[in-house]
Amino acid sequence: MAGGFVSQTPGVRNYNYKLTPKVFVTCFIGAFGGLIFGYDLGISGGVTQMEPFLEEFFPDVHRKMKSAHQNEYCRFDSQLLTLFTSSLYLAALVSSLFASTITRVFGRKWSMFLGGFTFFVGSAFNGFAQNIAMLLIGRILLGFGVGFANQSVPVYLSEMAPPNLRGAFNNGFQVAIIFGIVVATIINYFTAQLKGNIGWRISLGLACVPAMMIMIGALILPDTPNSLIERGFTDKAKQMLQSIRGTNEVDEEFQDLTDASEESKQVKHPWKNILLPRYRPQLIITCFIPFFQQLTGINVITFYAPVLFQTLGFGSKASLLSAMVTGIIELLCTFVSVFTVDRFGRRVLFLQGGIQMLISQIAIGVMIGVKFGTVGTGNIGKTDANLIVALICIYVAGFAWSWGPLGWLVPSEISPLEIRSAAQAINVAVNMFFTFLVAQLFLTMLCHMKFGLFFFFAVFVFIMTIFIYLMLPETKNVPIEEMNRVWKAHWFWGRFIPDEAVGVSAAEMQQKSV
Ligand code: BGC
Repeated sequence: MAGGFVSQTPGVRNYNYKLTPKVFVTCFIGAFGGLIFGYDLGISGGVTQMEPFLEEFFPDVHRKMKSAHQNEYCRFDSQLLTLFTSSLYLAALVSSLFASTITRVFGRKWSMFLGGFTFFVGSAFNGFAQNIAMLLIGRILLGFGVGFANQSVPVYLSEMAPPNLRGAFNNGFQVAIIFGIVVATIINYFTAQLKGNIGWRISLGLACVPAMMIMIGALILPDTPNSLIERGFTDKAKQMLQSIRGTNEVDEEFQDLTDASEESKQVKHPWKNILLPRYRPQLIITCFIPFFQQLTGINVITFYAPVLFQTLGFGSKASLLSAMVTGIIELLCTFVSVFTVDRFGRRVLFLQGGIQMLISQIAIGVMIGVKFGTVGTGNIGKTDANLIVALICIYVAGFAWSWGPLGWLVPSEISPLEIRSAAQAINVAVNMFFTFLVAQLFLTMLCHMKFGLFFFFAVFVFIMTIFIYLMLPETKNVPIEEMNRVWKAHWFWGRFIPDEAVGVSAAEMQQKSV
């Protein structure tokens, strides 16, 4: 596709480039990496609702679920069942730390390949599981796969993308995640209707399809110019840059990549260096964004939408159907971010989405509180139940164009090359840790905090919105290896960035940013 783009951001360089089919196709395939994460996120909630699955592996939960007089808030509270869901995220946490070294030393694509491979083996363990041990080993292997993919794919996309469309391209990762979730929910809807054990086996076993897609994708993808330079393939990197930018005039961008690589060579231990004061802004933001993303409470919906809908009195089929609807809404609304993130910027989406989520969460809490009270028994009418589903959709839409995609985009674009892999590993590890915590604790929290759970998450959404307002500088259109200038110009973070890191005086930067 033709058409030149020029960066407008003050204080940063302008590169000329064309949006080439090559960069488009490459990022499209790269984004497949989100499918394995999404498929897993979407499949677990439905599978843990299937009676043959519960009967086979979790007979206690099955008995409790059948009991008519159970407190609605506590029907599904079982640590073992949640461990099935959440064990994956602990494994992903561990593997993301190893993935950072592979991504840096061997290139982004080999981390993606390994991710697909371990996920593939995990899907076989799960599909053929004969006992809880096989089930858990399978989950752990799937987790290793997710850790590798989530560590490498967002960085891959951010490095490949032209600066002015980095947000849109990177959001492809989130689109793939949600697409994986929706496909998984649809598969669950049909397999749940099959008699015996075949249903859950198909659901879990089909994880091999996205796994193969990312494996094959990784084999045919080229590596990013940034990674090629970092590993000493300078000529190849220049050719790659020219072919993805659609012009031979890439000298300025190439020089910036080379400078960034030179600087990164001074840093022998990214894990130790990331603790230096000059990387404090990136470190703090990289820790807080994934923490806050999970504390939006989104995965209460992702994992437990079917459980939540059953708690609200929906039948098991209607619950799966409603989960499908929320998934489709999330998918459609993610495109709002794709089309606006490079025009309006990250901050506007974060702030608008945050306010929308806050209001809808409070409304959901109030409605459930009024209907079930603190005792947790009662019946909810059809109109009220539909209203709650509508509020959940509004909440999900807000997440879909803010914290969902931006939770992966921002951490992948704010760090200089020398700490980028380590920072992304921290992002994944923190994300996975809190995904684990929410998955593990949600059912117990619902049982004890009841409708107050929605207020609990609302408080965090309030705090994170303020945090973004004060602490996150706008990064739209800024070339990835020029990001230090943005930090230097920030009212608070500027003090941590040494002048030589941007080659401009602090006063000059402050002035430019006004
Ligand atoms: C989050 C996941 C979430 C998914 C879908 C991702 O960005 O990291 O935790 O389940 O979006 O909502």
